[in-house]
Amino acid sequence: MAGKFKVPRGTYDILPDESYKWQFMTNVFREVAGEFNYREIVTPIFEKSDIFERSVGETSDIVEKEMYKFEDKKGRIFALRPEGTAPVVRSFIENGLLLKPNSAKLYYLGPMFRYDRPQKGRFRQFYQYGIENIGSNDPYVDAEVISFAYMFLSKLGLKNFQLQINSIGCKNCTQDYDNALKKYFAPYQNDLCSDCRKRLEKNPKRVLDCKVKTCQIIAKGAPSMLDYLDEDCTTNFNKVQQYLTEMRISFVVNPKIVRGLDYYSQTAFEFIDTNLGAQNTLIGGGRYDGLAEQLGGRELPGIGFAGGFERLLLSMEEENLSFGQPQTPKVYLVTVGNEARSAGIKLILELRRSGISAEFDSDKTSMNAQMKRANKTGAAFALILGDDELKRNMIIIKNLANGEQKEINITDIIKSLKDK
Ligand code: HAM
Repeated sequence: MAGKFKVPRGTYDILPDESYKWQFMTNVFREVAGEFNYREIVTPIFEKSDIFERSVGETSDIVEKEMYKFEDKKGRIFALRPEGTAPVVRSFIENGLLLKPNSAKLYYLGPMFRYDRPQKGRFRQFYQYGIENIGSNDPYVDAEVISFAYMFLSKLGLKNFQLQINSIGCKNCTQDYDNALKKYFAPYQNDLCSDCRKRLEKNPKRVLDCKVKTCQIIAKGAPSMLDYLDEDCTTNFNKVQQYLTEMRISFVVNPKIVRGLDYYSQTAFEFIDTNLGAQNTLIGGGRYDGLAEQLGGRELPGIGFAGGFERLLLSMEEENLSFGQPQTPKVYLVTVGNEARSAGIKLILELRRSGISAEFDSDKTSMNAQMKRANKTGAAFALILGDDELKRNMIIIKNLANGEQKEINITDIIKSLKDK
């Protein structure tokens, strides 16, 4: 029964048979957030587009090619948020959020939008989980933020992931590094893709991140950022590694991680799924010490990460992990006869009011048909009420897993179900 309308390209519906998996992943994320004492922040789905242009960067693919920009009725230019960090920092500045006790620890969940070619693990509307720790530049915080991501993936049961870290230095070190990259890539100018030729001018580090095969081959021999770090950045990066080692979190240093957003400095990291195909970055993050200033606030360091639930789902399915139990009612109420049905309508409400998940068949069908439906819903118990039982103020409770049944007094039913 295909209808006339289809979900927009690059988007999808989360259907009822799948939604419990999303709830499971979200719940585990919230649990870990509680353990690390992060609190939730919710920002709008659209923002002034400048916020992203200034922070994510005008030469980034996200801003240049992928932003859903629109003009509202008063001619203001907005964008559907392509990511969550800039909005969180915007809100932090706007609301003067307090640094408690020495940094603000915030988490968020929600849809992000990027107009890119859809493929496995890449969508135009996708759902991110993320955290931001604003206010501290202590390298311990870098390690703690990374350990949050590590704990989350581990708590879901994932094993096939690898943490890769890098330092992309600060403003002081990038100048020399950018020059070194320009020099290295200059002889290959004509072999680079057209995007990379532009990147070479404006932001040569981006070439290292290009997905085009030829560019990747050329980039293999490029100088390493790590050779251009100044003393402070080197010390910081060493400390982050030391803390991670103390936390027994294994990692590899990958000097090719540059991240696709302009606001990063120093620590950058990614959690890669070693089984997934091209879109294999489960989580990406890093430090963004200049971002608050770019958005008009005072100088304020920060670090965070975000990941997409879609890729997490793929990884979990790949590793055959459990998403807990799908939602089922505890009770299915079967009634036979008109008076029983009327009493059933009252009883079902009582059950629900007492916190018992209960289902009721509003069609007047045979007892057999109702029992079949009861089994189909996955209910643990069927309550069977006929006119005959009703006269005696009794009801039959049947355990649908083992078929055992007994009659009990209707007035005892809620207590009895609560005990089960
Ligand atoms: P990002 O690397 O652009 O970073 O995205 C983070 C994660 O979001 C990716 O690793 C991936 O799992 C998921 N993701 C990104 N684009 C898509 C897409 N089109 N479809 C499905 N999943 C996608 C950020 O967004 C930064 N705000 C992270 C951050 C937070 N850095 C510091 N704080």
